[in-house]
Amino acid sequence: MATVGGIANPTGFAIPIECAILHFSEPVLVFGLSGSMSVNITSPVFKADPFPFYARLRAETPVFTVKLPDKRTAWLITRYDDVVAVLKDERFAKDRFKVLSPGQLAKQPWIPESFMPLVHNMLDRDGADHVRLRALVHKAFTPRVVEQMRLRIESLTNKLFDAVERRGKMDLIRDFALPLPTTIIAEVLGVDPRDRHKFHRWSSSMLVATSSKWGLLRALPQIMAFMRYIRKLIRSRCAVPRDDLITMLIQAEESGDKLSEDELLAMVFLLLFAGHETTVNLIGNATLALLGHPREFEKLRRDPALMKSAVEELLRFDGPLETPRSALRVRI
Ligand code: HEM
Repeated sequence: MATVGGIANPTGFAIPIECAILHFSEPVLVFGLSGSMSVNITSPVFKADPFPFYARLRAETPVFTVKLPDKRTAWLITRYDDVVAVLKDERFAKDRFKVLSPGQLAKQPWIPESFMPLVHNMLDRDGADHVRLRALVHKAFTPRVVEQMRLRIESLTNKLFDAVERRGKMDLIRDFALPLPTTIIAEVLGVDPRDRHKFHRWSSSMLVATSSKWGLLRALPQIMAFMRYIRKLIRSRCAVPRDDLITMLIQAEESGDKLSEDELLAMVFLLLFAGHETTVNLIGNATLALLGHPREFEKLRRDPALMKSAVEELLRFDGPLETPRSALRVRI
């Protein structure tokens, strides 16, 4: 039997294959364990309780073939050790533009040329490229910046809950989970408070862009407005530096190397996007899990010192990134 990074490959593909832990933004047909079952793993019904299905995959077919909406084949890997093996295996890459053949690249979903800086962000880079960007960003994420975030997060949380108390009811996502990360990220970056409502709008449109096949088209005007705004912000901070993360990113220098304007744009986009959806989903999932486990909830209420381990466990129990996209291709 062929193996991928030491993982048994029951499908027996003998060609290079795109692989692995994928983020599905479209209905995906999953060819069943017996070859006859099909499941839409992005449907709300499936997402409401995907765990029995994953448990069955883990037990019976740990490397599972799926068809993407654009007809590409991918594998769904569900066992912890296998996932760790893939993540550590350098034959799996993040940067698809470096590993796919021109023919395969031609079949990739269309992305306007002007959006390429967003696509080439640090999250989708490998090796030396990734190390370089990481080292530069690291310079801006100082302990002082992180500590300031903590204080501000606490005070914003109190403010949001004061408003809820006055109203006597709340929509958790709208009134807390969404405004918290977007406001904090906008503030840390140095976005003018008068423009923050635009940031909320742009964050939402980024989610629309990845939520369906036509999402990108629908979100085009908003994404372009976001890019124009950030480029203007970068240029204004180049001219007049301030005490904010954009200025720090502009000034970050490692061995004479600096981030280009496109790289700065990509980094701002990544911070907004990576820090946003994850946090919203974690707050939502965690609250739901606690409400569904009243004894654990009560324990936590009585002993807030348990909070740190509770957050770890809630991340594990029903994680905000159900299937993080990751790997690419490997010769088997
Ligand atoms: C509950 C909250 C969060 C979770 C669960 C989470 C999870 C993750 C995961 C799993 C990755 C790796 C993805 C991969 O390699 O495919 C990642 C990367 C990243 N996240 Fe988060 N994240 C969270 C919040 C944030 C926040 C608040 C920010 C910043 C504002 C952020 C910024 C980033 C960045 C910049 C990367 C890329 C790191 C690199 O490539 O070296 N994340 N996150």
